[in-house]
Amino acid sequence: MHLSMEKSVEKISNNDASSFNEGGGKTNGAVHCLLLYYTGTFNTRYITQKLKARLEQEGWQITTYEINPLNNEALDYSPYDIVGLGSPIYGFAAPYAFLRFIRAQKFPAGMRAFIYKNSGETYHANDASSKYFLRKLRRDKVIVENEYHFVMPYNIHFRFEDACIREMLEMDRKLMEILVYEVTHRIPNWKPYKLWPRFVSSVVARPQYIGGNVNSFLYKVDKKKCINCDLCIKRCPTQNIYRNKKGEIAFHHHCLMCMRCSFYCPADAFDIGFLEDWGWHVNIKGGYDFERIEKMPLKPFITPDTKGFFKCYVEKYEKINERYEEIMKAK
Ligand SMILES: Cc1cc2nc3c(=O)[nH]c(=O)nc-3n(C[C@H](O)[C@H](O)[C@H](O)COP(=O)(O)O)c2cc1C
Ligand code: SF4
Ligand code: SF4
Repeated sequence: MHLSMEKSVEKISNNDASSFNEGGGKTNGAVHCLLLYYTGTFNTRYITQKLKARLEQEGWQITTYEINPLNNEALDYSPYDIVGLGSPIYGFAAPYAFLRFIRAQKFPAGMRAFIYKNSGETYHANDASSKYFLRKLRRDKVIVENEYHFVMPYNIHFRFEDACIREMLEMDRKLMEILVYEVTHRIPNWKPYKLWPRFVSSVVARPQYIGGNVNSFLYKVDKKKCINCDLCIKRCPTQNIYRNKKGEIAFHHHCLMCMRCSFYCPADAFDIGFLEDWGWHVNIKGGYDFERIEKMPLKPFITPDTKGFFKCYVEKYEKINERYEEIMKAK
C-alpha cells in the first residue's frame, strides 16, 4: 500500500493515456475505472496514484486523467464502467477549474461515479463542497453513491508538522480501504448535505471562483530573493506568469490560486497578495516529502484531548477508525 510519491513537479501532466479518447474498451470482464482529477500542488495526484494502485490490486483496470485547466476537452466515457472524481477543496467548494471541466463533459446516463476529495482541515463546513458539480452530474443522470473526504496537509495557511502528516497518511490509508471495499462491493456511502455547509459553500464558492484573478493583481516576487530559475513560469497550469519587457516576473489575471508557484518556489520569493496579509504562506521547496514521512514511526498526534485548530480531526479520525474496524472484520 505504501507507494512512493512521484516527486517530480516538472511533469505537469500525469495522464496514463497519451491519447485519452483512444483508451481502453471493456474487453476482459474487469471493471474499467477512470480516475479524473484536478490538482494544484499535487496532493490530489498523490492520492490518485495510491488509489490507482489499490484498485488495481482488486483486479480493476484504471486509467488516470489529470485535468489541464487550459483544455476542457470532452472525454469519451464509453470505455469506462465507473468514474472516480478527485479534487482538493478550495474555500469549502470544488476548485473552479474542476467545476468548469466537469461542466464541459457529457457523461453517459446511468454511469456510476464516486467522489474522493481532500483538504487540509476536516471542519463540517467542507462537507457540501461537491454540491455545484453534483448538479451537473445529476443532470446527466450519473449515479453518485459514494463520497470520501481525505485529509492532506495544507498548501495554504500554514505548514503542517511531519508527525501530523504521518498520522494523516495512515488515516488516509484506512479511508482508502473503506473506499475500496465499499465501491467494489457497491455499498453506498452517501450523507445528504446539511443546510449550513451548503450555505457556507454557496457564500464562499463564488468569491473563490474570481479570487485568483483579483489576487493576481497583488502577487509580487521579491527580486532580491528570486534566482531566475523560471520554474514558476513553466509550472503555472494556466500560463499566468511571464517575464515583462523589463525581464521581471509578472502576472496575467487568470490565476486559479492553486499555490503551485509560491509553494514550490526554490527561493521562497513570492508574496501571495491578500493571503500574506492574513499571515497565510506555505513554501516547501521540494513539496511535502511524503515518501520520507511514510517511513517515519507512527505516533499519536491527534488525541481525544486535542484542542484548538486540530480538534476537528478527533471526530473524523474516530469515524474512520470505527468503519475501518468494521470492514476489517467483514473481510
Ligand atoms: C485557494 C485555496 C483554498 C483552500 N480552501 C480550503 C478549504 O476551504 N478547506 C480546507 O480544508 N482546505 C483548503 N485548502 C487546502 C487544500 O484543499 C489542500 O491543501 C489540498 O490538499 C491541496 O490539494 P492539491 O495539492 O491537489 O492542490 C485550500 C487551498 C487553496 C489553494
Ligand atoms: S520560481 Fe521563484 S526563484 Fe524561480 S523564477 Fe519564479 S520567483 Fe524566481
Ligand atoms: S499564478 Fe501561481 S497560483 Fe496562479 S494559477 Fe499560476 S501557479 Fe497557480
